[in-house]
Amino acid sequence: MVFVSNNVSRRAVFSCALAGSAMALPACAKREDSEGEEGVSAVEDLMREHGILRRLLIVYRECAAVLRSGASLDAAALAQASDLFRTFGEDYHERQLEETRIFPALMRAGGEAAGLVDTLIAQHQRGRAINAFIKERCASGRVADQRPLAASLDAFARMYEAHAAYEDTIVFQAWKRRMSADQLREVGDQFEDIERSTFHGDGFDMALDQVSQIEQRLRLHDLSRFTAPAP
Ligand SMILES: [Fe+2]
Ligand SMILES: [Fe+2]
Repeated sequence: MVFVSNNVSRRAVFSCALAGSAMALPACAKREDSEGEEGVSAVEDLMREHGILRRLLIVYRECAAVLRSGASLDAAALAQASDLFRTFGEDYHERQLEETRIFPALMRAGGEAAGLVDTLIAQHQRGRAINAFIKERCASGRVADQRPLAASLDAFARMYEAHAAYEDTIVFQAWKRRMSADQLREVGDQFEDIERSTFHGDGFDMALDQVSQIEQRLRLHDLSRFTAPAP
């Protein structure tokens, strides 16, 4: 995927190299960028990544409705959404952060959150299979077999809405409780470095640009269109 961003990073830049363990990281000299904004915490980082993924779920649901109506759909825009979910959601957020760093720590600690990990991993895997199906169906630039694709888009959105909500309210909170303030800061620095080395820049800002472009292409970019009608 090609990220296009004219944004200046809003976050602080960390100069220390990524160490093998968060606990082994030395104190990093942090500087603020030109806007003087502090870096975001590790949990805030994870939750705003969910915000990007939730906006893609909205795209999926809206595309499913278009497919069911029989109207024509911009399949290339849907394929672009699927690409962004894969690179930002699957390859970065799920694999590099949750499956490598958060879930193993929870499994060692035990408790309610640890009991969710097997299901969360199964949902990551099911999501990857569905996302690959969506991409494959959109590859030709026009969508064939509209009903199975619509059903998969809705099923994916339903699953991932629950998935992200449980992670936000149970999993990330349990993970955070296990660490001291210093450890959390060190992990936040480590996440920042992973993000920058993965995306060669501010991955969140880049993903935000991408999802905004997809929404505009599909005419979903006006928030007010989602305001519910009066009862
Ligand atoms: Fe997850
Ligand atoms: Fe997540």
